[in-house]
Amino acid sequence: MKIAVFSTQSYEQAYLDRLNIDFKHDLTYFEASLNANTTNLAEGFEGVCVFVSDKLNEKVIEKLAKLGVKLIDLRSAGFNNIDIQAAKKYNIKVLRVPAYSPQAVAEHAIALILTLNRKTHKVYNRVREGDFSLDNLLGFNLYQKTVGVIGTGKIGAVFCKIMLGFGCKIIAYDLVESENLKAIGVEYQSFDEVLKNADIISLHCPLTEKSHHLLDATAFDKMKEGVMLINTSRGGLIKTEDVIIALKSKKLGYLGIDVYEQEDGLFFKDFSETIIQDDIIERLMAFHNVLITPHQGFFTKEAVEQIMKITLKNFTDFEQGLVLENEVVMS
Ligand code: NAI
Repeated sequence: MKIAVFSTQSYEQAYLDRLNIDFKHDLTYFEASLNANTTNLAEGFEGVCVFVSDKLNEKVIEKLAKLGVKLIDLRSAGFNNIDIQAAKKYNIKVLRVPAYSPQAVAEHAIALILTLNRKTHKVYNRVREGDFSLDNLLGFNLYQKTVGVIGTGKIGAVFCKIMLGFGCKIIAYDLVESENLKAIGVEYQSFDEVLKNADIISLHCPLTEKSHHLLDATAFDKMKEGVMLINTSRGGLIKTEDVIIALKSKKLGYLGIDVYEQEDGLFFKDFSETIIQDDIIERLMAFHNVLITPHQGFFTKEAVEQIMKITLKNFTDFEQGLVLENEVVMS
């Protein structure tokens, strides 16, 4: 099948080329992201393969349909960047990689917690400069702390299990409660109760219309003083202006984010020799108790291999008219 692969990173091309020996699709790589300005690049292709940085609104999808594109295949689990209703309207199937390695993302959330708490990112540089003092390095035990988990699906469940291993009390909020998690000691509470009772809050729910700005000034008011907030899910779950106010007032004691509301055009690129125009991320970067990683939660060898294999298999399933087990369908 002829596929245009957008937002291609060099590591992805290497994986896809190697794995495609078995799948034999005709892949053309574009570094550009797919959006209203670049849709013409999809001319002559039956399918487009996209990532979280590609924005497929109704206008883009309508144009893709006119160009003869029949399939959108996401190299990600999240699909908030695609107008699913529009795809349905124009008879374009949308496939994704619903699960590849929930461990990769859950483990990254824990890396953010441990780093923010024990400040290993700072001490690494300090020791290299010959500073062996303990000034400002005081952390806290995770043991017996209360961890609030918002969203206990695949990633949230792995996260709960790891944190139980640290001896934490786990409280959770989800629209659907998991009996398996309850059986191992996770306690479900209301959204407000989780905000009120948790020492650490970790977000693992998808970004939807309902969850957009789930954490805003009203939500921060309900939290404990000095709470740690971790977001490895989607930037839009947190209202960034409000998080800055909560950091300034010390309501938030720590913030670890792998995703950022305005990450498009910023994450996955090197701006080290240019001037960053986004004043909000610059403000966030200036806080000593904020740790930002560039959407790398999924980025382990095991996860990338799985993502690429499932992506190629999705194309084969479509091409051969098989059951589309990874189709995104709106409920
Ligand atoms: P999942 O679909 O297995 O679980 C999501 C859970 O959130 C479900 O249990 C669902 O009932 C719950 N949920 C939905 N709306 C909610 C709401 N308003 N409040 C509370 N709970 C709600 O998804 P999975 O695989 O665990 O992924 C979670 C999210 O992680 C994805 O949507 C994606 O945004 C993000 N992600 C981030 C990655 C990264 O590299 N940082 C990589 C992969 C996923």
